Amino acid sequence: MALKDKTPEPALGIIGGTGIEELAGFELQQRLQPKTPFGAISGSILLGTLHGVDVALLNRHGLLKGEAGQHIPPHAVNYRANIWALAQLSVKRVLALNAVGGISSNWPPGQLGLPHDLIDYSHGRAHSYFDPDSALGYHHHVEMSEPFSADLGQLIAAAAQAANVSLQTSGVVAVTQGPRLETPAEIKRLEQDGCDLVGMTSMPEAALAAELQLQYSSLAFSVNWAAGKAPDAQQGIHDEIAATIEHCQTQLSQLLAQLVKRL
Ligand code: HPA
Repeated sequence: MALKDKTPEPALGIIGGTGIEELAGFELQQRLQPKTPFGAISGSILLGTLHGVDVALLNRHGLLKGEAGQHIPPHAVNYRANIWALAQLSVKRVLALNAVGGISSNWPPGQLGLPHDLIDYSHGRAHSYFDPDSALGYHHHVEMSEPFSADLGQLIAAAAQAANVSLQTSGVVAVTQGPRLETPAEIKRLEQDGCDLVGMTSMPEAALAAELQLQYSSLAFSVNWAAGKAPDAQQGIHDEIAATIEHCQTQLSQLLAQLVKRL
């Protein structure tokens, strides 16, 4: 394996997002900055152990503690490089952590959950490995009938139960372009489309993982009500996020400690 020294294959790749600058219980062994045919990844991949289990940790915004680079906004993330680099480390399962806004009443701020489907509203992102001039060339129409792995989802649900963490087990996530937040009318439209939550980063990540045949799940955590959905309209979205994020971090840590035991 060219990218890393003699460390074992990670049992899980974890892609952190907003609010995930470190993970409780993670012990660093090696910091990698691999080059890929698609360019540079976001910051570094940290190889190490999470509660004794080998994992590879990356933050798609380059936000891991100790990273020198700038915050990479959702539309500028090099999703192809990130997923490619994880696959090169022989990662087979990828857990994506996604801060989201809640649209449906069952995704209030502080709620963790597993979206089961998505609608992609993003645009202009390099979203496939199968370009004629890419390293892979054109391959096939990748299936997206299960964009988030049900098998990995089951392990996450069992971990949540063991950790006593409340978890929604379904939801349709709208993936918007960002980096701005949505207008209330846009959220109303997403709701009419059948979306329960809204984030900016699940695509093209999920499709790229599918192209490389990785098991990919999103563990989403609602950090705010989507625009126009807050019962208390006095509180701004950023205040809501600040008030919620620590709670989500704690719940995620407890869940992850149980999840790695089940891999
Ligand atoms: N919209 C889109 N993405 C988000 C939000 C939101 O309200 N909150 C966190 N990520």
